[in-house]
Amino acid sequence: MKFFLDTANLDELKRGAAWGILDGVTTNPTLIAREGRPIEEQIRLICDIVDGDISAEVMALDAAAMVKEGRVLAAIHKNVVVKCPLTRDGIEATSILSKEGIRVNVTLCFSPAQALLAAKAGAHYISPFVGRLDDVGSDGMDLVRTIVAIYQNYGFGTQVLAASLRSPTHVVESALAGADVATMPLKVMEMLFEHPLTDKGLDQFLKDWAKVFNPAPKSR
Ligand code: E4P
Repeated sequence: MKFFLDTANLDELKRGAAWGILDGVTTNPTLIAREGRPIEEQIRLICDIVDGDISAEVMALDAAAMVKEGRVLAAIHKNVVVKCPLTRDGIEATSILSKEGIRVNVTLCFSPAQALLAAKAGAHYISPFVGRLDDVGSDGMDLVRTIVAIYQNYGFGTQVLAASLRSPTHVVESALAGADVATMPLKVMEMLFEHPLTDKGLDQFLKDWAKVFNPAPKSR
């Protein structure tokens, strides 16, 4: 399973990249806007930090403009994956860009039917938004499981990128469901490391070692 960070913040990406477990980055207009630089510039800086697939989203709403924007984004770096929304125009743009050899991540997927459209259009990734479905009372992880099953039925090459993950449980359940990628905020990646018994065990090891090899000086 590949781990992506869902952020455009360079400090967060440097921190995640240092662990050696980072396979790529997803950005969206909200995340890019938060950093305050033009998208081309921000994506170029991200490509300097992370050697993996970097999703950059088009802002246009009609297919022709999406294709034009997608070509510009793809030309920034060989690792750029163009993100298109799951609309009629987004699917049309995905078909065109994919035929040109430009990889597309189809985003804002909330149903298995939408995921089928993305696969048929030749998308490289489909991004089901787990957390946002949970937010409205649906079972987001069920969507991931269903898409994985459907894609397996037909041998679609589109990779399932579980997105909008909000907790370590979401990451583990995505792995169980067979998602190819989990994208998560740095906060969630940090949480994957945590277990109180790891901290407790390490503390005990250090104390036992110190008792023998580094005893506290005796008081006079
Ligand atoms: C994925 O590509 C999206 O940027 C992201 O996962 C959305 O997550 P959110 O619902 O937490 O904003």
